Amino acid sequence: MNRILVTGGAGFIGSNFVHYLVENTDLGVTVLDKMTYAASKEAIAGLPSDRVSLVVGDIADAELVDGLVSSHDAVVHYAAESHNDNSLNDPSPFVQTNIVGTFQLLEAVRKHGVRYHHISTDEVYGDLELDDPQRFTEATPYNPSSPYSSTKAGSDLLVRAWVRSFGVQATISNCSNNYGPWQHIEKFIPRQITNVIDGVRPKLYGAGLNVRDWIHANDHSSAVLRILEKGVIGETYLIGADGEMNNLETVKLILRLMGRDESDFDHVTDRAGHDLRYAIDSTKLRTELGWKPTFQDFESGIADTIRWYRENEDWWRPKKAAIEAAYAAKGQ
Ligand code: NAD
Ligand code: DAU
Repeated sequence: MNRILVTGGAGFIGSNFVHYLVENTDLGVTVLDKMTYAASKEAIAGLPSDRVSLVVGDIADAELVDGLVSSHDAVVHYAAESHNDNSLNDPSPFVQTNIVGTFQLLEAVRKHGVRYHHISTDEVYGDLELDDPQRFTEATPYNPSSPYSSTKAGSDLLVRAWVRSFGVQATISNCSNNYGPWQHIEKFIPRQITNVIDGVRPKLYGAGLNVRDWIHANDHSSAVLRILEKGVIGETYLIGADGEMNNLETVKLILRLMGRDESDFDHVTDRAGHDLRYAIDSTKLRTELGWKPTFQDFESGIADTIRWYRENEDWWRPKKAAIEAAYAAKGQ
């Protein structure tokens, strides 16, 4: 394998993977990214130009995708509309990018016989009760709740069908909630960190008892490379780092690490259809492919992330007022 096409490589997790490839492999990388509101050129700036190039374009553009896929040895597909709240406001771009875009990529890898890895989410499995001793496994039935997660589930099913019907050389991974640098400030953790920097009280949806299973984006990247190199074609791998925490505790942790009183937050209008709990059992990935996460300490990972947002205000500051105005209009 010499050259890899990374879709969505200017987004939060995709850009982390591009850095990971540059640091840990000799592969050449082409990023295909539409540069939506969620992308940032800064996240992949400064990388060696003989290793990484950026093509600005849409994964739903069949001609563009066909040409790019034909000149690469593998595709890792991150590009998506990724925010649940946005999918409740307007599902249309989610259907177009997450389903139609994935279809175009699958048609191109089928035609050119190119290895494909599909990035997906644990949200395709729906949610768990707080006291359920089970966690999600590769055998858990699909039961998505939101327009976002249902379009991701639809894209996963397309991949499975293209493997079975057309022999496409694909693997799928479903990961839990990522945190770390470069995450868009519409998302929970960076929204609250930047609120506290601004002297604004963090905003907790509902009672805040919803549990998310946090993993550092670097650990997601190491898992994806392991699956790309060693994964069995046609298989799905769940990626998680045993990081369950409810939103209330996460907000209190952020407040404490930022030197504020732990009660200094507001409860706001809950998300419609809000999934209660996600929890990943990543035994298959760990035992069959020998992967393990390196970020085991959530508190120090969050402390690093707070430091990063403090030091990179130039990046997020221009987006902040509009994001908060849109949330405020919904009582959030
Ligand atoms: P993000 O919103 O930060 O980035 C998405 C990127 O995709 C952006 O750079 C955007 O410009 C690009 N993009 C969007 N539509 C496109 C199109 N039509 N053509 C080309 N590029 C397009 O998202 P993220 O959080 O980095 O998530 C990346 C992937 O990982 C998604 O597939 C998401 O479902 C999955 N995932 C995310 C998490 C998480 O916690 N963030 C967890 C599990 C899985
Ligand atoms: O589980 C993986 C998924 O994690 C990915 O597939 C998605 O792309 C990613 O966005 C993330 O989805 P969530 O909906 O879990 O993430 P979000 O950051 O939007 O919210 C995390 C939790 O925090 C969720 O329970 C909603 C809550 N929340 C969110 C915001 C923005 C709040 O309480 N307050 C907020 O202001």
